[in-house]
Amino acid sequence: ALVASTAAYAQNYPTKTVTVIVPFAAGGPTDTVARLVAQSMSKTLNQQVIVENVGGAGGTIGAARVAKADPDGYTLFLHHIGQSTAPALYRKLSYNAIDSFEPIGLITDVPMTFVARKDFPAKDFKELVSYVKANKSKVTYANAGVGSASHLCGMLFMSAIDADLTTVPYKGTGPAMNDLLGGQVDFMCDQTTNTTSQIKSGKIKAYAVTTKSRVASLPEIPTTAEAGLGSFEVAVWHGLYAPKGTPKPIVDSLSKALQVALKDSNVKQRFAELGTEPVAENRATPDAHRAFLKSEIDKWSPIIKKAGVYAD
Ligand code: MLT
Repeated sequence: ALVASTAAYAQNYPTKTVTVIVPFAAGGPTDTVARLVAQSMSKTLNQQVIVENVGGAGGTIGAARVAKADPDGYTLFLHHIGQSTAPALYRKLSYNAIDSFEPIGLITDVPMTFVARKDFPAKDFKELVSYVKANKSKVTYANAGVGSASHLCGMLFMSAIDADLTTVPYKGTGPAMNDLLGGQVDFMCDQTTNTTSQIKSGKIKAYAVTTKSRVASLPEIPTTAEAGLGSFEVAVWHGLYAPKGTPKPIVDSLSKALQVALKDSNVKQRFAELGTEPVAENRATPDAHRAFLKSEIDKWSPIIKKAGVYAD
């Protein structure tokens, strides 16, 4: 009876609005990816797919909310690499980064950029590094809280140059960008999905990209390796989740809708304009996503423990 009713239930799914929780403030990079994917999934699922921003604690407040939500397919979660760093950064998480969720599929890997307020004195990345080392805690670094991608990049940067900065946490790098544009904060490492338009309009300075090769939409910006920071690479992967226990037929229809979104011409064009692209089809499956998330948790935990950075 239960199987039959689940099958019938899944057959008609979705019969009402689907909410995608984004664990950072509106207007930031995670929100940008989520709204593009949600727009396409609305068409495929023939129901409203809306984004709700639940910020705080580097994305773990939003994650905890979804981990406790009904596994009925109407509350989803779109998060990035922070899903894999939180278990090492937060020793008292109220959820398990893998077991409290049903991975639906990976979405995109977004490069990061070191950017500063327009009148920041350094003229290139080398000068940025020497300025930071000389001025240490007088330099303010914006991030989206411990567990965010901007926090992770900053943590790696500080250990690479062996200098501590004064970090200013925001509910997302959308709000952080407002302060960077206003000159209230000195610099940050943020995703091209959020920095590209401000860089191109000359409202902020860009020093380097955190990828092996240059970003096609930002050809004039050197990689950190070219700029002398060795093998510094951070690409912010993003994935879609449902709460653990969501019936498999619903996970399957969500996975199909995600696959359609990753082939959607508008999604692909906007991603390209913002320095990124959809992941290959074979990575946008629940099993590939789960395996990748596990490998990322295993990769980042020792690095974070070695850096001795904890949030709680
Ligand atoms: C991050 O730093 O994790 C993201 O940029 C936060 C956001 O999407 O606002």
